[in-house]
Amino acid sequence: MTEPEAPASRSFTRSASLRTPADSIRTPGSTTLPANSAYGDDPAASRIQTPSAQREDELDSSLRPRRLDEFVGQDAVKEQLAVSIAAAGGRGDSLDHLLLAGPPGLGKTSLAQIVAHELGVPFVQTAGPALERKADIAAFLSALEPRSVFFVDEIHRLPRAVEETFYPAMEDGQLPITVGVGAGARVVTLDLQPFTLIGATTRAGLLSTPLRDRFGIQHRLEHYGPGDLARIVVRSAARLGVAIDAAGARAIAERSRGTPRVANRLLKRVRDYAEVHGAGSVDADVADSALDLLGVDHAGLDRLDRELLLAICTRFAGGPVGLSTLAVAVSEEQDTIEDVYEPYLLQQGFLQRTPRGRMATARAYEHLKLSPPGDDKLF
Ligand SMILES: Nc1ncnc2c1ncn2[C@@H]1O[C@H](COP(=O)(O)OP(=O)(O)OP(=O)(O)O)[C@@H](O)[C@H]1O
Ligand SMILES: [Mg+2]
Repeated sequence: MTEPEAPASRSFTRSASLRTPADSIRTPGSTTLPANSAYGDDPAASRIQTPSAQREDELDSSLRPRRLDEFVGQDAVKEQLAVSIAAAGGRGDSLDHLLLAGPPGLGKTSLAQIVAHELGVPFVQTAGPALERKADIAAFLSALEPRSVFFVDEIHRLPRAVEETFYPAMEDGQLPITVGVGAGARVVTLDLQPFTLIGATTRAGLLSTPLRDRFGIQHRLEHYGPGDLARIVVRSAARLGVAIDAAGARAIAERSRGTPRVANRLLKRVRDYAEVHGAGSVDADVADSALDLLGVDHAGLDRLDRELLLAICTRFAGGPVGLSTLAVAVSEEQDTIEDVYEPYLLQQGFLQRTPRGRMATARAYEHLKLSPPGDDKLF
């Protein structure tokens, strides 16, 4: 990947590899997150949509569900996980390795922490880009307590050479390490304690097949419906001490683009607005005015979503247009467009992905109040 690394990501990478694994052992349910990986300090920190969690989100660790029954929605995934957890617990085994895939902010990290909590085992976390050398993995894995959950965020960004270290560790609980250099070098094999690797990725497609196949359990999180999001908003409002009625929660939910992290962020902005402009409590009117002010429209699209669609419709005659061209046109990273913006636009039918590039749909023209090409009603 050619993505330039933000300074924050460099310092995270270094400190992560210098850190002893013992420092990183978290008690189950702990919510400490690394400074966010490759995206580090996002210049667009004020945006509703960001590729990853921001410090502000993490300050509200109280919003993160801690137990499976607090985790709203994703019923099929929860049900299957509950069975896997109960079975592993009953046998006294470690849980099979688990891969969680899905767009940012849908609850992958939360779910990984919940799994550790439900299993009653330590939770140790790192991220793919932080594991630069085989020794980094060796340091983590050899320090794990039995049955621990080892969480690797952004596992698709693990360097290939390092990734191979996981194969024997995941399969046989063994870690071959080379001791010494040159002619005197030899390989010794460390026996590891049983552990559960939980990998999270926004791009399951970028994972190599050998790595993916070694995950015994694989789940994909999908965008949430407005009903589930409204429940999340109500729950978060209670924890933040914000008075909100059902219609207010629903109004926020409908503009949260299927994403709990966005719902929580919008709730906080709406709360601010309510404190300044109203009595502090949130109803549908307050929520709607606050969200209009934030530039989040009724379909949940923000400024960049609309810019993207507008660029395709007006500058590229509806498409198809390649991702790199589009990224330049709206001055945004390709990865951000692909990971954060596109999934929702595709899901909502504003955008279409073809082998030749992205195309705007009739719904996009309608939303932007433009007439589609070939629509000669006006002439
Ligand atoms: N099912 C849920 N119920 C309640 N709150 C949730 C749920 N899923 C996510 N959240 C909230 O959304 C926030 C973001 O979730 P989380 O950090 O787990 O997402 P993620 O999938 O790991 O995102 P990323 O890909 O950016 O790492 C959490 O802090 C939590 O407050
Ligand atoms: Mg996460």
